[in-house]
Amino acid sequence: MTQFERVKAELLQSPKTWLVTGVAGFIGSNLLENLLKLNQTVIGLDNFATGYQKNLDEVKNLVSAQQWQGFSFIEGDIRDFDTCLKATQNVDYVLHQAALGSVPRSIADPITSNAANVTGFLNMLEAAKQNQVASFVYAASSSTYGDHPALPKVEENIGNPLSPYAVTKYVNELYASVYARTYDFKCIGLRYFNVFGRRQDPDGAYAAVIPKWTAAMIKGEQVFINGDGLTSRDFCYIDNTVQMNILAATASDDVKNEVYNVAVGDRTTLNDLYSSIKQALTENDVSVALDAEYRDFRAGDVRHSQADISKAKNNLGYQPSHKIQQGILEAMPWYLNNV
Ligand SMILES: NC(=O)c1ccc[n+]([C@@H]2O[C@H](COP(=O)([O-])OP(=O)(O)OC[C@H]3O[C@@H](n4cnc5c(N)ncnc54)[C@H](O)[C@@H]3O)[C@@H](O)[C@H]2O)c1
Repeated sequence: MTQFERVKAELLQSPKTWLVTGVAGFIGSNLLENLLKLNQTVIGLDNFATGYQKNLDEVKNLVSAQQWQGFSFIEGDIRDFDTCLKATQNVDYVLHQAALGSVPRSIADPITSNAANVTGFLNMLEAAKQNQVASFVYAASSSTYGDHPALPKVEENIGNPLSPYAVTKYVNELYASVYARTYDFKCIGLRYFNVFGRRQDPDGAYAAVIPKWTAAMIKGEQVFINGDGLTSRDFCYIDNTVQMNILAATASDDVKNEVYNVAVGDRTTLNDLYSSIKQALTENDVSVALDAEYRDFRAGDVRHSQADISKAKNNLGYQPSHKIQQGILEAMPWYLNNV
């Protein structure tokens, strides 16, 4: 039995109350789906800045009517402290996902990203502390490794941030570590590495690479590869991310007040990613006629990224269930139905 199976069995026996911020977004709605399937009570908070009601409606259709009864939704903004205070009342665990993602978005508008990602984060942290939440798990980011050249990335060696977004996510870690030291408040930062899967938004200027390319290929539109195609990432399927959130929240206190890489430990170039998506579409009888076109490197992007996941394995019992190819194949039906 894996640690994740053990934890899930315990949660089924003794359900908890969770607050998921950013619940209408990609990762938040997947956390909601998985927690409701474990018969947990879930409060969701979102202002629909980049999330959608349709994501919540989809989760409703994937769980039983009784499980859906366990969900209550607050439409609100984490930039408002009173909203955060209300949302964190009588909550066991917080999974804080609400933020404005995307490096280019933060370069175009650093003030708005800072307000959600830093002010909003501090509001949530303080509110959770005041309401004596047992664990505050938050979405950190691999962008915090910045210009540090070492591969694979180990948690203690970070470089200089390369974008306003990376600054905001690093500030989250600084605040969390100060709250741990000053107030003995239990926080766990999860440094996500390019998460992908069902319900990740394929639309808009700030879409992530996998949904953006998949949607373009399905629609017969041109795919652009930024740079020479040798830029690489440790793409992490959503199920691995959900596993890490649940393991982190329920971990023993001695392994909290840490940050953990959330990834697979592999490295895939953009060229290989393109081929994998094309192959998965071919397996679903979609032929891709156009070849990808190369264009300039994108400002603020890290060149290579690959995680060392031994800390999460050793401290939390994390065992990624999906590698990239498997994840792409599993996500494909959702894209074929929703693009
Ligand atoms: N997807 C990735 O690869 C990745 C990688 C690293 C870190 N992260 C982090 O993971 C978290 C979730 O990302 P995602 O990919 O699900 O993005 P997403 O945009 O789908 O979800 C974010 C959610 O937060 C909500 N939100 C934004 N600002 C808010 C505010 N002020 N008040 C209330 N709700 C607000 C949005 O409406 C949205 O539903 C974010 O913190 C992001 O920075 C994601």
